Amino acid sequence: MKILVVGSGAREHALCWSIAASPLCDALYCAPGNAGIANEATCVPIPMSDLDGIVDFARANAIDFVVVGPEDPLVAGLVDQLDAAGIKSFGPNAAAAALEGSKSFTKGLCERHAIPTAGFKHFTALDPALAYVREQGAPIVIKADGLAAGKGVTVAMTLAEAEAALVAALRDDAFGAAGSEVVIEEFMEGEEASFFALVDGTHALPLAGAQDHKRVGDGDTGPNTGGMGAYSPAPVLDQAMADRVMAEIIMPTVEGMAKEGTPFKGVLYAGLMITETGPRLIEYNARFGDPECQVLMARLKSDILPALIACHDGQLSSVDLRWDDGAAICVVLATKGYPGAYGKGSVIKGLDDAETDNAITVFHAGTALDEHGQVTANGGRVLGVTALGADIAAARDRAYAAVERIDWPDGFCRGDIAWRAIDRST
Ligand code: AMP
Ligand code: GLY
Repeated sequence: MKILVVGSGAREHALCWSIAASPLCDALYCAPGNAGIANEATCVPIPMSDLDGIVDFARANAIDFVVVGPEDPLVAGLVDQLDAAGIKSFGPNAAAAALEGSKSFTKGLCERHAIPTAGFKHFTALDPALAYVREQGAPIVIKADGLAAGKGVTVAMTLAEAEAALVAALRDDAFGAAGSEVVIEEFMEGEEASFFALVDGTHALPLAGAQDHKRVGDGDTGPNTGGMGAYSPAPVLDQAMADRVMAEIIMPTVEGMAKEGTPFKGVLYAGLMITETGPRLIEYNARFGDPECQVLMARLKSDILPALIACHDGQLSSVDLRWDDGAAICVVLATKGYPGAYGKGSVIKGLDDAETDNAITVFHAGTALDEHGQVTANGGRVLGVTALGADIAAARDRAYAAVERIDWPDGFCRGDIAWRAIDRST
């Protein structure tokens, strides 16, 4: 088969790395890819916003299957366009991707199908929104309704923070069109976890659990990022909890979407709060998490490609996936300054030294090659150093030893990825 992966992050590098190992894969392309992905796939310089360009490339090159990594092209309708062109793909169409693209759509679905989530109210005007938070009090959560690259959420511990977030979104247009509507949510207390299930429209197959670290600083402090590290399995998602998540959250969603005429196909990523009363949905994403995908691919022992194709074909009930019994961890290296302003172009050395054995893989996010063929930093999150180990502590030690061997003075990482899991086990 000829496969095309769409995207340019470490998640897409991990997907390419897994797909390239499939005996079914004869040729692998990635649009647009990055300097690391180029080791697994032929990178084609089509930006992922150029949906027509991607469809034209797939048609001209007789691509058999397209795997869409990020949310933007899903929400924009890439899968719909590929369908119309008769090209098979992995991912939801635009109508089903609304689970990620519109928080109010997801909240409505939760309400109609009794899926546990935070209580909420929807606002477009500033004054009623301010009146509502004053009545509810803090802590309270303010979210821009559309896609805001992970930056549209304020967990306000005080009323003043909540008011400032509403003014920024509804008066000052801080999130552009994504913030012209806001959802104000009840604050949920508990431990967060990421739950992934492949879905073929009717069936759902749970994947291994994972946890990520969204805050930039050690001890989960500082501003939110796209994710500074991840690990799998997630101790808080034991088998009993995973069964509850499937029964109380995932299956009602899959059935509700099908019943309402917008069946979901692809990977459903539930951001969960594990509260005292059980799992509750924070949000849905319509794609793999980044960096959670990196640890899932590291632990996956089965061929990923037939599972992705089964999502498209409605054949997921015949798929079974096997996972490494140990643990995987991914430590993200980012450019100093991220998630604020950062420079580009600094040279990264020592990447080959970092991958001393098969248990370590360095996935590239924002990298490019300069005119001398050196790998340079080309984004905020730049590398995902991923290691397997017999348990979380062993995987962590191996990953941080690999980080030490990377020579990149402009980069930084968190030093405490997986601290919760390690605290629990000691
Ligand atoms: P989201 O982009 O919706 O995943 O939100 C970003 C982060 O804000 C989440 O990972 C949580 O840490 C936090 N968060 C979002 N909604 C809530 C909520 N209702 N209660 C508590 N924390 C929340
Ligand atoms: N790891 C968070 C995300 O992919 O949205």
